[in-house]
Amino acid sequence: MGRLDGKVILLSAAAQGIGRATAIAFAKEGAKVIATDINKTKLQELEIYPGIQVRVLDVTKREQIEELAKEIERIDVLCNIAGFVHHGTILDCEEEDWNFAMNLNVRSMYLMIKTFLPKMIKQKSGNIINMSSVASSIKGVVNRCVYSTSKAAVIGLTKSVAADFIEQGIRCNCVCPGTVDTPSLQQRIKAQPNPDQALKDFLARQRIGRMATAEEVAHLFVYLASEEVTSVKTSLCEFAHSGCILVLMPLILLLLHALELAKKLLVLNLFIKKKKKV
Ligand SMILES: NC(=O)c1ccc[n+]([C@@H]2O[C@H](COP(=O)([O-])OP(=O)(O)OC[C@H]3O[C@@H](n4cnc5c(N)ncnc54)[C@H](O)[C@@H]3O)[C@@H](O)[C@H]2O)c1
Repeated sequence: MGRLDGKVILLSAAAQGIGRATAIAFAKEGAKVIATDINKTKLQELEIYPGIQVRVLDVTKREQIEELAKEIERIDVLCNIAGFVHHGTILDCEEEDWNFAMNLNVRSMYLMIKTFLPKMIKQKSGNIINMSSVASSIKGVVNRCVYSTSKAAVIGLTKSVAADFIEQGIRCNCVCPGTVDTPSLQQRIKAQPNPDQALKDFLARQRIGRMATAEEVAHLFVYLASEEVTSVKTSLCEFAHSGCILVLMPLILLLLHALELAKKLLVLNLFIKKKKKV
């Protein structure tokens, strides 16, 4: 038995990197995966995996998203993974760069959630997992101005959707990885004036001496898509940085439960003392 048996999962950016690893991990756990991307050739490589159905989709195009929504009857999990990394400070970021990054990294998630959420509400259950990054409101990272801005917005969007729809059976979480070894990261390194130095700089930021793998991040997606976290009906922001995975929200919830319990015990204690006095 798989951890995601029978779940219908739609995900973007499945042709390579984290999206691809996640699509494969979902299918291995028994999900029916609708893997989408703009790169048709690479996407088709996923067809060999049982449980994966591929579909070309540009997540910045409202009409394409709405067309796909008409074809999908049920959706249990929506994973918004597509994103682009612009390199540079605010001074290197032209308005065109800004618009491109915000459009792909944030507006696409707005479009996808807005289109598929009504189906989830109708089903009285649904699970949305967005891709953010440590480079966001979590941490200031050099040369990542518009990227970090967009990923901070993803955290805000995630928390907002979670707050608004928790009571209707919808969970909304996001994953915030550190540096992950993916094809686009390798391209970014090669594009630097001194690629060897750029690689060294990336590795120097990783205290475990290596980058995370796409498969490691895929594990987080499987966990969040599974029934193992259904009690966490709130915005959960996890991050995998330097290969270390911190599950923040469950710990915070545990702490809150402990505080609540302590408060109740205190009240009970005061009540007993008062009774004794009487
Ligand atoms: N690699 C990292 O170090 C890292 C770290 C933290 C967060 N992330 C985030 O994870 C996500 C995936 O990163 P990656 O490095 O695996 O990706 P990648 O750049 O290797 O792959 C991205 C995929 O998105 C697809 N894509 C691009 N534009 C699209 C569009 N308009 N519609 C649909 N698909 C489109 C591409 O064809 C490609 O297959 C991104 O949101 C990225 O910001 C990556």
